[in-house]
Amino acid sequence: MAMKLVMLLIMVRLVYGELNAVDEGLKSERFVYEEQLLKKVIRMEFKMEQMEREMLQTHDKMTSTLQNLTLEIENKTTELKLVEERVSLPMVAFNAYSLTDYSLDTNQILIFRNTYLNEGNGYDNVLGLFTAPVAGLYMFSMHACNYGGRGFYYYIVVDNSIIAQSTKYNNVQTDCASVVTLTKLKKDQRVWVKCASGSSSSQLSDTSYRQSTFSGVLLRG
Ligand SMILES: *[C@@H]1O[C@H](CO)[C@@H](O)[C@H](O)[C@H]1NC(C)=O
Ligand SMILES: *[C@@H]1O[C@H](CO)[C@@H](O)[C@H](O)[C@H]1NC(C)=O
Repeated sequence: MAMKLVMLLIMVRLVYGELNAVDEGLKSERFVYEEQLLKKVIRMEFKMEQMEREMLQTHDKMTSTLQNLTLEIENKTTELKLVEERVSLPMVAFNAYSLTDYSLDTNQILIFRNTYLNEGNGYDNVLGLFTAPVAGLYMFSMHACNYGGRGFYYYIVVDNSIIAQSTKYNNVQTDCASVVTLTKLKKDQRVWVKCASGSSSSQLSDTSYRQSTFSGVLLRG
């Protein structure tokens, strides 16, 4: 009987010990699992932080690109407007002939009574003045014809400032010569030709073989 009891006790202890071991095993398995989970969570957090950083960088880059593009578009729009203005420039050109006076005094304005062309109505054939209807780059030319032995001294002026000066003189031949000049004008600035040195005899002459003219054209705005 006592022997049986001892055996039972031993068995109980064995089973108990085994159960304990299983429990321990379970505990360590759980610990490993939890540890792995924790590592995973940490890795994910790290990755998410990295992603967040990358997203912020991408966002900053996109914002900068967008700002640059906006500036570029604004720049191109302004340039397009300038080009449009240039393309839509009015036609401005005149070609005037037939002087009202051939014996000019010093500083007398040459007045051409007729025009072959007066696009934009810039040339005033009563006062002899060209008034720029728009600002821009202009070209002007005075074609002077006279008899041999006669001199004609003249200026092309913008609001009284000389922009071209020339002399037409040939000792023998009756002939013509021109001066051509370029100038930038503001709207409403005026241009004319004036005699630089007066004389009581005629300095210029027009016949069927030659003709003095004053002409001008707007090249670009
Ligand atoms: C935007 O323009 C600035 C200045 O020109 C430049 O430094 C920057 O790199 C540009 N950004 C992008 C995203 O192109
Ligand atoms: C547009 O940008 C170019 C180059 O930066 C510059 O030279 C030009 O003046 C700009 N145009 C306008 C209308 O701002």
